[in-house]
Amino acid sequence: MIRERLTTGVHVGPMLDRDLDAVVEVERVSFKTPWGRDVFLEEAAREWAHIWVVRASEEGPAVGFINFWLVRDEIHILNVAVLPEERRKGYAARLIRQTLTFAWEHKVRYLTLEVRRSNQGAIKLYKSFDFKPSGFGRTTTRTTPRTRSSCSSPSSPRALDGRARHRG
Ligand SMILES: CC(C)(COP(=O)(O)OP(=O)(O)OC[C@H]1O[C@@H](n2cnc3c(N)ncnc32)[C@H](O)[C@@H]1OP(=O)(O)O)[C@@H](O)C(=O)NCCC(=O)NCCS
Repeated sequence: MIRERLTTGVHVGPMLDRDLDAVVEVERVSFKTPWGRDVFLEEAAREWAHIWVVRASEEGPAVGFINFWLVRDEIHILNVAVLPEERRKGYAARLIRQTLTFAWEHKVRYLTLEVRRSNQGAIKLYKSFDFKPSGFGRTTTRTTPRTRSSCSSPSSPRALDGRARHRG
């Protein structure tokens, strides 16, 4: 089970204009082939795309973000990242939990994402939310090449509470 270490005051909400620099910086320090500012601006303009940020307090700077697409009854998570100095404090878990709540509210049936097989920390995080490997061994390339494997999770109350463990 993921420990809930974050105190009250932690805030998750849509990326605001003032968050753009922070989000680009989180991305830059988190990935070898980071998306640039222009990509985030394109994402922000897409009707089906959501970029949420997490802050230590409502007025604080963004320390992490999640970017996902809602298409029909499916959510695809493109990106989750947290500033290196803010990791292991529960911020990514909070972002995913809130995304699962959103999924439940929008009657989403499946959530999918892709993660590198070598990214064991992220895989552990996703499995703790009941994401299941659906394509391990398969490598995919995106516009920004990141070789990943796929995970998917049914949107269910079991996944929503963040306590469900990987069954496989
Ligand atoms: C993966 C990432 C988003 C996790 O963010 P985070 O805020 O540190 O994650 P959390 O603190 O919410 O972690 C919750 C749980 O996930 C697991 N976890 C997260 N990172 C882990 C790591 N590096 N090693 C092992 N387990 C990890 C742990 O079970 C952790 O609980 P614990 O700290 O009580 O053991 C962050 O490491 C990151 O930004 N990495 C670079 C970008 C990236 O790889 N994103 C994922 C792309 S698919």
